[in-house]
Amino acid sequence: MDFNMNKTVLITGVSRGIGKSLAEKFISHGYSVVGGSRSTTAISFSEQNFKHFQLDLTDDQSIQTFVEAIDKQNLQFDFIINNAAIGPDLGQTELKREWLESTLQVNLIGTILLTEKILGYLKKDGTLVNITSKLGSINALASSRSPAYRISKTGLNMYAKVLSDRISQKQKIVSIHPGWVKTSIDGDSTSGNLSTEESARRIYEYITSDFPNGIFWDVEGYSELGW
Ligand SMILES: NC(=O)c1ccc[n+]([C@@H]2O[C@H](COP(=O)([O-])OP(=O)(O)OC[C@H]3O[C@@H](n4cnc5c(N)ncnc54)[C@H](OP(=O)(O)O)[C@@H]3O)[C@@H](O)[C@H]2O)c1
Repeated sequence: MDFNMNKTVLITGVSRGIGKSLAEKFISHGYSVVGGSRSTTAISFSEQNFKHFQLDLTDDQSIQTFVEAIDKQNLQFDFIINNAAIGPDLGQTELKREWLESTLQVNLIGTILLTEKILGYLKKDGTLVNITSKLGSINALASSRSPAYRISKTGLNMYAKVLSDRISQKQKIVSIHPGWVKTSIDGDSTSGNLSTEESARRIYEYITSDFPNGIFWDVEGYSELGW
C-alpha cells in the first residue's frame, strides 16, 4: 500500500495507549498516519502508510525538527490530533512544582507550541482534535485529585476556544474525553472502563461524523461535556 496523500492524519503520542490505537484505526480506514512521540513505535506500524518522527514536546528544538520533517512530506492533514500527555499527579492531591511544571510542559505548553507551528498543514476543511479529559471540565469537577493534570486539560480546552476564533470557517475544532481507558498513563494499565481499541473506535466514529464545531465531547458517555 502506498502512502495515501489524500487522507492523512497527524497524531501525537503515537507510541502506545490511545494514540497507537488511533493510528491503527485510521490506517485500517485507508488513512496515512504521521505520528510523533519520544520513543520509537511498535512493530504494528511497520506499514507503508505510517511514518514516525521523533517528538519531545518539552523541547523546542525537537518540536522544530518534527515540523521540518512534516514539511518535507508535502502533506496537508485531514485531522491533527493532539493526544500526547502525561499525568504524574493522577490520583494525588498534593500540588508539587515538579508535577505542575512537567505536566504543563507536555500537555499544555508543548502541545500549544506544536499546534501553532502545524496548523498551517491542516486542510482548509480539516479538523483539529484535542484529546483532553473530563478531569479538565470545571463544570464536572467532583474531586480535588490530580490538580496539575486537571489544570493542563482545562488550559487546553481554553486554547481550543481561543483557536476557534482564528481557524478558517470550514475547519473544525473539538475537545474529546476519550473515556476512562486502560493505559499506563496512571501507572496501572489494568484499570479503566474501555480498551484503547474501543476508545479509538469511538473517537474515530465521532470525529469523522458531522459534529458541531467547538464541542467538548465525551466518547464514553456519548454526551456533550460542560467546559
Ligand atoms: N487513559 C485514560 O483513561 C485517559 C482519560 C482521559 C484522557 N486521556 C488522555 O488521552 C491521551 C492519551 O493518553 P493515554 O492514556 O493513551 O496515555 P499513554 O498510554 O501514557 O500514552 C501517552 C503518549 O504520550 C506520549 N508522550 C508523553 N510525553 C511526551 C513528550 N514529552 N513528547 C511527546 N510525546 C509524549 C507518549 O510517548 P513517549 O513516551 O514515547 O514520548 C505516549 O505515546 C492523553 O491526552 C490523556 O490525557 C486518557
